[in-house]
Amino acid sequence: MSSIRSYKGISPEVGERVYVDSSSILVGDIKIGDDSSIWPLVAARGDVNHIHIGQRSNVQDGSVLHVTHKNKENPNGYPLIIGDDVTIGHKVMLHGCTIHNRVLVGMGAIVLDGVVIQDEVMIGAGSLVPPKKVLESGYLYVGSPVKKARPLSDKERAFLQKSSDNYVQNKNDYIEDVNSV
Ligand SMILES: CC(C)(COP(=O)(O)OP(=O)(O)OC[C@H]1O[C@@H](n2cnc3c(N)ncnc32)[C@H](O)[C@@H]1OP(=O)(O)O)[C@@H](O)C(=O)NCCC(=O)NCCS
Repeated sequence: MSSIRSYKGISPEVGERVYVDSSSILVGDIKIGDDSSIWPLVAARGDVNHIHIGQRSNVQDGSVLHVTHKNKENPNGYPLIIGDDVTIGHKVMLHGCTIHNRVLVGMGAIVLDGVVIQDEVMIGAGSLVPPKKVLESGYLYVGSPVKKARPLSDKERAFLQKSSDNYVQNKNDYIEDVNSV
């Protein structure tokens, strides 16, 4: 069985030069932009709503991505949207949230329904972001539940792009290595 599976006739759509590790599972209505990467043991289920991932973003090992269905009170439900140049650390849980560009979600973090994370935010490892919270551009957030810790330094802002660039290089190396077997 492939790690990329259709559900109710809808199959994941993967852009150019995307790395999807063969141990990860992508199901249903999922779109992944060019040069993004999905690392070992990621589970992403676009069944009761959709998952969109932008370009050059990485979802690291063991992360779980899911969505919330549409209903009368909440006609759009909560899809999961991830922008460009986003780093999702190891074993992160993302559920029905919206993440803009150049964001780093620290390893082990949990991000719940309706959360909006604006451009250039860093979330500390192990943090919990409660439902519908908006994380403001340019800040570090840490804790459970998260609190705004401090503004990001220029170096940290630059690192958000660097982290994405590093993972584009990593996935290119993996694609080359897989092709050479
Ligand atoms: C939060 C983080 C960015 C460090 O920020 P920092 O300001 O340099 O933190 P410091 O190490 O100077 O610690 C400052 C304080 O925050 C605390 N702290 C550090 N990381 C924390 C975290 N993830 N959650 C809660 N508190 C944290 C420290 O204990 C310290 O507390 P104290 O002042 O009471 O002693 C870093 O610890 C982190 O979580 N990075 C995420 C890395 C990651 O997951 N990358 C994923 C890709 S692999």
